[in-house]
Amino acid sequence: MARKKLIAGNWKMNGLLADGTTLAKGIAEEVKKIGKPQCEFLVCPPFTLLSAVKKALRGAKVALGAQDCSSEDKGAHTGDVSPVMLKDCGCQYVILGHSERRADHKESSELVNKKAQAAHKHDLKTIICVGETLEEREAGKALEICTTQVIDSVPDTSTWQNTVIAYEPVWAIGTGKIPTTKDVEEIHAAIRKTLSKKLGKGNANKMRILYGGSVKPNNAKELLSLEDVDGALIGGASLKVEDFLGIAKNAGVC
Ligand code: 13P
Repeated sequence: MARKKLIAGNWKMNGLLADGTTLAKGIAEEVKKIGKPQCEFLVCPPFTLLSAVKKALRGAKVALGAQDCSSEDKGAHTGDVSPVMLKDCGCQYVILGHSERRADHKESSELVNKKAQAAHKHDLKTIICVGETLEEREAGKALEICTTQVIDSVPDTSTWQNTVIAYEPVWAIGTGKIPTTKDVEEIHAAIRKTLSKKLGKGNANKMRILYGGSVKPNNAKELLSLEDVDGALIGGASLKVEDFLGIAKNAGVC
């Protein structure tokens, strides 16, 4: 069975009610024009826009996701948002362990693992992010860092149905730089091999591994046609309807 490509937008900390709703409506309109897309579309707005975006996407084949969640269900955790709350808002997905959270909030792979277990318990699909810094790449440690992050961040509750991995080299995020196709292929293949050891071959072969980091309409075809690349996690270019859809169209996946 072929893995269905996932085109996911991570809006990060962008969007107010008016422009976020307009963006979601624009994406919904374009996806409706496609009819029955071959790929899966997903948008992950900030928490504050989840309900409005859910409404704006009505009737379009675009899934809704959040950018983080708590490892707890409820209680005295000021500022946190639980997987149950995300489900309640209409989310199907949650991004976990993005490098910006690992850096800004000192999130460890162990915490990401706990959060993923909590999300799975409530039927939320997780997009677990891994990736090396420039320093780590230059030290020849990219492969080791990424596979270790997979081993530590992906919980035993993960299956191909409830988990997606995203390889995002930190130095490629928002910089316009992308790794060579050989490097992307090497890391994605190593991630799949690691998943196979951890979750079994059946899960590993069906689990989607996305590439993220400066994905644009003009490089989408090259990146998304690689053997183990099953979609894209898109930051900047997911904030414009034509760029977000342009990535799927140029890559020929929708
Ligand atoms: P950019 O597409 O802006 O490089 O961001 C990638 C990213 O971090 C998606 O999660």
